[in-house]
Amino acid sequence: MERTFIMLKPDAVQRGLVGAVITRFEEKGFKLAGMKLLQVDRTLAEAHYAEHKGKGFFEPTVTYIMSSPVVAMVWEGKNVVALARELMGATNPANANPGSIRGMYAMDISRNVIHGSDSVTSAEREIGLYFKPEELINYRKVGDEWLSE
Ligand code: TYD
Ligand code: MG
Repeated sequence: MERTFIMLKPDAVQRGLVGAVITRFEEKGFKLAGMKLLQVDRTLAEAHYAEHKGKGFFEPTVTYIMSSPVVAMVWEGKNVVALARELMGATNPANANPGSIRGMYAMDISRNVIHGSDSVTSAEREIGLYFKPEELINYRKVGDEWLSE
C-alpha cells in the first residue's frame, strides 16, 4: 500500500492543532503507520528541504521547522500521496481551498501548518530521513474492508 510522509510543523504543535489535523487524516480513511514528536536539528532540516537550497525562503523555512517540536507521521492508503496533498491544500494558504487543512488553519505561506510529500519518490526519501524501517508498523485495521473494493 502507498505511504506518504506528513509533518505537523511547529505552528501546528504550538497552536494546539495536532488533534484536529490528525482527525482529518483518520476520517478520510488513511491508516497511521508511524508517528513521533521530535525537535528537528539543522542537518535534518536542510536534508528535508534540500530541493529548495539556494532559494530565498530556504533559510527562513529551515529555521522555522527547527524552532519548536514537530510531529512526524507516515500515513498509508490508496493514492495517499496525492490525496494527502489535496487534503492539505495549496502551499500558500491564501490560495488554499477553504475546506483544506491549510485553508482552514493558516493564512501565510511561511506558517502553513503541515508538510506532505509531493510524490511517491519524495515520500520514500522523506520517510527514510525521519523513520527507521522498524518504526513503521503493518497491521490490520477494523474497517479496512469498507474503504475500497
Ligand atoms: P514547497 O515544497 O514549494 O511547498 P509544499 O510545502 O507545499 O510542498 O515549499 C516548502 C515550504 O517552504 C512551504 O511549505 C513553505 C515554504 N515556502 C515559503 O516560505 N515561501 C515560498 O515562496 C515557498 C514556495 C515556500
Ligand atoms: Mg514540497
